[in-house]
Amino acid sequence: MSRNREHGSDSDEPRNFQAMDKRKRPDDDYSNIPTVKSGIPQLDGRARFFIGKGDLVIVKLDSDRPEVVVAAEEVEIPQNSRVLVMNSNEGFIGVTLAATNPSSRFFLYESNLAKSSLSQRNVEANAEIAPNAQVVSEDQLSNLIAQGVNVIVFRPPGFVAQELIEDLIAFASRSLPIGGELIVITHKKSGGERHAEMMKRNVVGKVEVVSKSKGGFRVIHVQKTAESSQEVPSLKAEIEIDVLGQKLSLVTEPGLFSREHLDSGTQLLLESVDLESFQRLLDIGCGWGAIGLTAATINPQGEVYMADVDTRAVRVANENAQRLGINDRAQAVATEDLRTLPGNFDLMLSNPPFHADTKVLTQLFEAARDKFAKKGNLCIVVEQTYLKKLQDILQAVFGNVAVLRQDPVTKFTILHCRK
Ligand SMILES: C[S@@+](CC[C@H](N)C(=O)[O-])C[C@H]1O[C@@H](n2cnc3c(N)ncnc32)[C@H](O)[C@@H]1O
Repeated sequence: MSRNREHGSDSDEPRNFQAMDKRKRPDDDYSNIPTVKSGIPQLDGRARFFIGKGDLVIVKLDSDRPEVVVAAEEVEIPQNSRVLVMNSNEGFIGVTLAATNPSSRFFLYESNLAKSSLSQRNVEANAEIAPNAQVVSEDQLSNLIAQGVNVIVFRPPGFVAQELIEDLIAFASRSLPIGGELIVITHKKSGGERHAEMMKRNVVGKVEVVSKSKGGFRVIHVQKTAESSQEVPSLKAEIEIDVLGQKLSLVTEPGLFSREHLDSGTQLLLESVDLESFQRLLDIGCGWGAIGLTAATINPQGEVYMADVDTRAVRVANENAQRLGINDRAQAVATEDLRTLPGNFDLMLSNPPFHADTKVLTQLFEAARDKFAKKGNLCIVVEQTYLKKLQDILQAVFGNVAVLRQDPVTKFTILHCRK
């Protein structure tokens, strides 16, 4: 690929995607935050890459995030392109490509809200070297596609179902115009071959490995020459859950937690609490909605909110509420901060992401605590290995924690905190 190809002009830029106001806020003081060291001249000593909400940054880019260096060195973006960076994760690849391709505009999309916020933070922190990068939300994505992108850069996320990756590649194929380019940055150990096969199945055009770098990374490129006639199979699966005498027919998607059946920890939680008398219930980390939807079905007077950081999970949970005809009083919301939800809750239930670090879980439960009604109960299910960690966190946040039930077979424990 040649770096000198041009893609149209940027002059008729649609208004909705004007770069956000990236002026520094008065409290943004980066003077003590180290800049990244890398072999990329546009970044070296100028870029700051945060890896979370605090001030932790990546300093040695080449060793810590080699895929970013691969993107900067091996991905060629035609001049004046409009580029969607799909699954932007922490935003490093999007910001780096923006800094190294200043004539093009980069739109970073990520379905996980925590990562999307991190992308936003990294975009803001690097506004001087990459003013041509911006984050797009789930709601803005279809608008952006309608307005047109001519390149999609995709780094498949690790630890997700291959079907989900294929679905994203099919989405990229549908979203590109004829002549548009899909560039996948992958690794030979994490499915490089399979990703190339998926591109062949879903994009009409010549799929080529354009770079094989030392660390095992692969950059695979295809230019779309025609619309694909490939039927994209629906990823949705219908499942029936049978809990507390209720049989609910629901849909799930790959990549969502326990997508084939009701998780046994979730089932134990549902069977351990009184679901008949709550007024307002919050399902924290709802996934496809197992807890909130069951509770709303059992208690037809109750109002239910379901929250998750994954915008896909929220979309599916809302679809399920609609399927069950209870969407007037059961709704899912994508949020990173439970405090943004309206009103307070007398019952909160969760099968929480117990693998998350203590800091993240503490923040999650602190936000939950702030949403308690005058009197309230929180019950969560915990796997044995994480029991002590979760007990300590809940004790610190709520000032009390008790074991409500322990299942000798599955080793799941239900913990209870009250206000
Ligand atoms: C173990 S799954 C439980 C899903 C569902 N409640 C169930 O029982 O089947 C945990 C869920 O928490 C979500 N999650 C992770 N971090 C979160 C956070 N900080 N705030 C809200 N949800 C979060 C994940 O996306 C995931 O859907």
